[in-house]
Amino acid sequence: MNPNIPARVRLIDVGPRDGLQNEKMPVPAEIKIGLVHRLQEAGLQEIEVTSYVSPKWVPQMADNHDVMSGIARVPGVDYSVLTPNLKGYEAAVQDRPDEIVVFGSASEAFSQKNINCSIAESIERFAPVVEAARSAGIRVRGAMSCTVGCPYEGEVAPERVGYLAGLLKGIGVQRVDVADTIGVGTPRKVQRAIEATLAHFALHEVSGHFHDTYGQALSNTLAALELGVWNFQSSVAGLGGCPYAKGATGNVATEDVVYMLHGMGIDTGIDLDKLVDAGAYISGFLDRKPNSRVAVALLNKRAG
Ligand code: HMG
Ligand code: MG
Repeated sequence: MNPNIPARVRLIDVGPRDGLQNEKMPVPAEIKIGLVHRLQEAGLQEIEVTSYVSPKWVPQMADNHDVMSGIARVPGVDYSVLTPNLKGYEAAVQDRPDEIVVFGSASEAFSQKNINCSIAESIERFAPVVEAARSAGIRVRGAMSCTVGCPYEGEVAPERVGYLAGLLKGIGVQRVDVADTIGVGTPRKVQRAIEATLAHFALHEVSGHFHDTYGQALSNTLAALELGVWNFQSSVAGLGGCPYAKGATGNVATEDVVYMLHGMGIDTGIDLDKLVDAGAYISGFLDRKPNSRVAVALLNKRAG
């Protein structure tokens, strides 16, 4: 096996946030809380719970406070939330997140569509957020969207990713997500985006965040593992999508990633059966099958 491949992987389930933000049907706070509880029960040590963004832009996340304050927190589990600006940070900090996430884009057009400002303006907005969080002892992650492709600009060069990573490093962001927002990446392209990021951040500070629109997310995960990356974001039941990236589907399903990793002898600390239960719970509420081949296979096996 490639010697870079890690023995252990840490997964951040972003289902409650990235997964649900794009759902048209309002999902009550108690269901979101139930999902977080099931994820932590399954052994997830990091959960991206919600975002403090404009409720006009993303109505599904308007219940951020109810969700964060309703969770029965488990020691050893970290709860992160998205904060695009100081207004979001000031609301979030009341709910004691372990980590806040500022989110920028490697492409200008997506930055405008998603957060209504240029890349340079976004860094100006993030800087005081990062400073406030770090002086309050809250960790700071930076999500980097469109690191291989953009729904408005097409292919994105690795240099753009390196440029954004350098800007985020410069304002004190502690770790970053290399996101394939619209799931168009393929393994070599994803590796180039990660390598550009590694010019600014250490290996343990870089995570992969792959949407599965074109069915490449597991292959891209393996490609990232080959570079030694050991932090990944995924959504239980393959939930998700970004409202400002038309046509983009969910993140790679956590169940599929866990099945692959365990099959490779890589430890995650996650109980796949309980994870499948968590996915079945939210899929049941949404009245659909989990968007995870592994979950569907295991549920069929249980039923049979
Ligand atoms: P804006 O309109 O430029 O902001 O939006 P503004 O400062 O001019 O304020 C306009 C109004 O929004 C005001 O209210 C503010 O109070 C309010 P009004 O006076 O009109 O009633 N406002 C806020 N309300 C609540 N929370 C806030 C906040 N800020 C301002 N934090 C803004 C700028 C960033 C707020 C807006 O563009 C927005 O909310 N965008 C949402 C973006 C989003 O959530 N996208 C999805 C998450 S990112 C993602 O999914 C990608 C990721 O998964 C990685 C990947 O896959 O690529 C992370
Ligand atoms: Mg995403």
